Amino acid sequence: MELNSKIYLPGHTGLLGNAILKKVNEDGYQNVITKTHKGLELTDKQSLDAFLEETKPEYIILAAGKTGGIVANKTYPADFLHQNVSIQDNFFELSIKHNVKALVFYASSCVYPKMSPQPIREEYLFTGEIEATSEAYAAAKIAGMLACKAYNRQYQKTKFLCLLPNSMFGPYDNFDLEQSHVLSALIRKIHEAKVNKSETLTLWGSGKPEREFIFSEDVADATLFAIKNANKFENSHYNIGSGTSISIKELANVIADIVDYKGKILWDESKPDGTPKKLLDSSRFNALGWKKVTSMDAGIQVTYQWFLKNYNNLIKK
Ligand SMILES: NC(=O)c1ccc[n+]([C@@H]2O[C@H](COP(=O)([O-])OP(=O)(O)OC[C@H]3O[C@@H](n4cnc5c(N)ncnc54)[C@H](OP(=O)(O)O)[C@@H]3O)[C@@H](O)[C@H]2O)c1
Repeated sequence: MELNSKIYLPGHTGLLGNAILKKVNEDGYQNVITKTHKGLELTDKQSLDAFLEETKPEYIILAAGKTGGIVANKTYPADFLHQNVSIQDNFFELSIKHNVKALVFYASSCVYPKMSPQPIREEYLFTGEIEATSEAYAAAKIAGMLACKAYNRQYQKTKFLCLLPNSMFGPYDNFDLEQSHVLSALIRKIHEAKVNKSETLTLWGSGKPEREFIFSEDVADATLFAIKNANKFENSHYNIGSGTSISIKELANVIADIVDYKGKILWDESKPDGTPKKLLDSSRFNALGWKKVTSMDAGIQVTYQWFLKNYNNLIKK
């Protein structure tokens, strides 16, 4: 990929899309193509076809998709399945038609078995039952992972790269309590407990489950690394994580320190915990020569500062 290559970045207004946009701008790429959701509905194949005909991108980094936390996944499973499958299928088909050199697709750790051995290796896919609450979203992601493999096998002109990042966080994350993931929800709840001078804050579950988080800007960095090293890729998905897990309780304490919340955090153990641990084994991707750079502390600091700056707009949404 050259600095003047045409790079299309669908989903540039989202968590990951923003981080990639920042990275390509910082690295000096001059031909970055963006279009908002309002300006182009990606489930609409005809419109996307016309847009690709007009813009002729050489690389596509597919950061667009329907995302959300447990509540949203439980309430709108059909939307998660239909919209994600439609978007990715349109991109796979049209990338071949428009001679795109490489397309990056993002899978998700919810495709792995709920009770998988840890850390989770790429080959553990299909070795057990997946988490029921996100199965429709996971089904779309699995379809995308298999599509990358199938298109790579059938066509050689476009390289389909499938990256599987663990839970991401960063600026432009979703802080809506109905829609958000655990880390952004904790930032908001702990911040609001501080502002409201609450002496206690009760959080759901035991706090014992362990999760792995990765800063969105690290995934953006990994994405450009993947495109530049596409020739080293096997025809398979690659895990991308930070390499360490943290319990939700520890995470809440880290966030409370950063937010400077002095109250007591209580745990409502009558609420469900979900999968006990989710840590990816990212050694295959790291062996290609990539290493993540941002500590949890530094990433959360940046995210919290962004949240503070944008608080009024986020709450209005
Ligand atoms: N966040 C994570 O922890 C995580 C982990 C693993 C994989 N991933 C995957 O990484 C990708 C990016 O995730 P993210 O967290 O950055 O998502 P996000 O913040 O929700 O951003 C999604 C982006 O896609 C756009 N979009 C959604 N539906 C669209 C449609 N029908 N037509 C046009 N644009 C549409 C959104 O625009 P609007 O907001 O205007 O609708 C937004 O720009 C997704 O494929 C996701 O599944 C995410």
